[in-house]
Amino acid sequence: VKDLRDLARKHGIRIGSAVDVAALRAEADYRHVLNREFTHLTAENAMKWESVEPERGVYTWDDADAVVANARRNGQQVRGHTLIWHNQLPGWLTSGVEDGSIGPAELRKILREHVQTQVRRYKGKIRAWDVVNEAVDDDGNMRQTIWLQHLGPGYIADAFRWARAADPRAKLYLNDYNVEWNQGKIDRYLSIVQELQAQRVPIDGMGFQGHLGIQYDYPGDWANVMRRFAALGLEIAVTEMDVRMVLPVTPEKLATQAEYYSRALTDCLSVKACREFTVWGYTDRHSWVPGWFDGEGAACILDENLRPKPAYQALLATA
Ligand code: XIL
Repeated sequence: VKDLRDLARKHGIRIGSAVDVAALRAEADYRHVLNREFTHLTAENAMKWESVEPERGVYTWDDADAVVANARRNGQQVRGHTLIWHNQLPGWLTSGVEDGSIGPAELRKILREHVQTQVRRYKGKIRAWDVVNEAVDDDGNMRQTIWLQHLGPGYIADAFRWARAADPRAKLYLNDYNVEWNQGKIDRYLSIVQELQAQRVPIDGMGFQGHLGIQYDYPGDWANVMRRFAALGLEIAVTEMDVRMVLPVTPEKLATQAEYYSRALTDCLSVKACREFTVWGYTDRHSWVPGWFDGEGAACILDENLRPKPAYQALLATA
């Protein structure tokens, strides 16, 4: 196995990375390694609502299009991320809801148009959509978002139906973090899926973000959790894998990190329905971790100079 594409072929799975569009445009080495190693891409930010419709009715698709075009040129599939989330919403939307100028009926219409417009634009070009991202909070309750508060829990079923109608062949996913181990979240998601299925709502997959850190135990039950969702007939994907650490980096920490990446891939490979393993950025040069977790970093499989870390070698060596 000489690289990740080779590994993907060997195991018959997709191996993906989140893409930083600014780097994709500006850095030839970043682009080169991305396209050499990965068979699947997710836009890290470019398909989020604030990116595609920063002003009401004004669509800015350039960055999202750049990811799709890169994928097409390089034989990669694409995960669309994400249609509905509580973060990175455009200001016109959140302020309109807040000041009451956008009421519930209009909000529902705005959401429908958003889902339809975005899914139709990329019809046939997106293998799988994260239709709803992070719909459950860490206590296992439905997350209190503007969607739940103003539209009620039915927004999830509506969104999946709108997305299916807009691109019948795209796989439609729920996606969240800590579902690897948080029992409250796991139970809530299992019941959401069963409820959707009972209502004949088209749902195809469960995405596990996989944001781990070596200062926490590896989620040892993860493969079993995947199997519980697979038993409901869903596809499984690891959608945003990274393994952060408290800085400074040491050889021991890198070894532990390598073990976590390899275990995660092993867990995915042990579940027949798990066919995508995507990392949330492949290089420490472009990672969300230092900006979001104080004092932490070095979460990716290649370093800032795009040199493979032990984690990269561990993935290649995963049987
Ligand atoms: C993060 C991006 O990586 C950052 O660049 C951005 O500033 C914030 O969002 N879960 C998700 C992703 O579903 O969309 C988030 O991405 C990371 C957590």
